[in-house]
Amino acid sequence: MSRNGEGGSVRETVEALKNYFGYLHRSGVLFPRPDSASAATSSVPESVTLPHSSTPEMQEEGARETLDEVRSDLGECTRCKLHKGRKKIVFGVGNPRSKIVFVGEGPGADEDEQGFPFVGRAGQLLTRMLKALGVRREDVYICNVVKCRPPNNRAPEPDEVTACSPFLLRQIHSIRPAVVCALGSAAMQTLLKSTGSITKLRGQVFEWEGTKLIPTFHPAYLLRNPRSEWEARADLKKALDLAGVTPLGR
Ligand code: URA
Repeated sequence: MSRNGEGGSVRETVEALKNYFGYLHRSGVLFPRPDSASAATSSVPESVTLPHSSTPEMQEEGARETLDEVRSDLGECTRCKLHKGRKKIVFGVGNPRSKIVFVGEGPGADEDEQGFPFVGRAGQLLTRMLKALGVRREDVYICNVVKCRPPNNRAPEPDEVTACSPFLLRQIHSIRPAVVCALGSAAMQTLLKSTGSITKLRGQVFEWEGTKLIPTFHPAYLLRNPRSEWEARADLKKALDLAGVTPLGR
């Protein structure tokens, strides 16, 4: 299209379309892609919403990096030694416009196998706890501090966290949630850059990078200490309420 809206050359039309699709992509519009990298970043690839006009909000959105861009920059990562033992990179899953982001420590065996975070026993507990609060797993966003499985489920080491956490921060900045919920001390300590104890800090609301951060127990800890589950449920409810996540059917 020519600038005045009248018919131009084919080349101009192609150029304009390329610019428009680039703009849609930068605005966060998701296009289904046949490759697995795209499938791993979002569970809602078919929800394509075309903006009708350019509002200031959309222009601001346009400046935001998309999760697909973060994922493709991560690539087949070899930035730290964890890549040597991994089967799949576990990037993150869920709603790229979620008002809340859950951050765990790192993939376990099931996650490494399937390529999605929190799908093993601990993940199933998290899913049940969310469901009990009226929230579907696919409506929130879930990821980890490190994207590759640490051997024998050990805690990620400082060099691994240093290599991987920039991608976590870019994921969070892309989503811009109202609340980040840190699951366990690794996530809490990485994000808050603190050595504080999860038992002391859980349930507290921290101002973090222009958003709120609430730490709570890791679901794997809850499997070993089921009596702490009521505290974690209270923390999750607080985080969801603060984020304005509306329970289903209410
Ligand atoms: N534990 C985590 O911290 N993350 C997962 O994805 C699974 C288990």
